[in-house]
Amino acid sequence: ETAVDLGPADALKAGQSRLFTYRDKDDRCILLRTAEGELKAYRQTCTHLGCAVRFNGGQLECPCHNGFFECGHGFPVQGPPTRPLSGIALDVKPDGTLWAVGDLPKPGQAKEA
Ligand code: FES
Repeated sequence: ETAVDLGPADALKAGQSRLFTYRDKDDRCILLRTAEGELKAYRQTCTHLGCAVRFNGGQLECPCHNGFFECGHGFPVQGPPTRPLSGIALDVKPDGTLWAVGDLPKPGQAKEA
């Protein structure tokens, strides 16, 4: 799997986000820390028509047609999108760095063996 160093795991405060690229420079993703303090990462590509979603501190929102996704699993909660965002697996190393380490299985699907 592709592993990408995202820097110190404690860099983001709750409600903050930043962008990164994962598999190549066009694989645009967003790293965020939820209000509950969890780190999550998703591809920015909206599952409606592909605009870039952004984090508003509580939800991921798509400006194109006012689509909204919850940030725990990327499920659509409002607007036209019907499928969840593509999630990126994260890992914190013993030295405190955060890494993007793979694609999460789609929520609701069994993890492949
Ligand atoms: Fe995101 Fe339409 S492209 S809501």
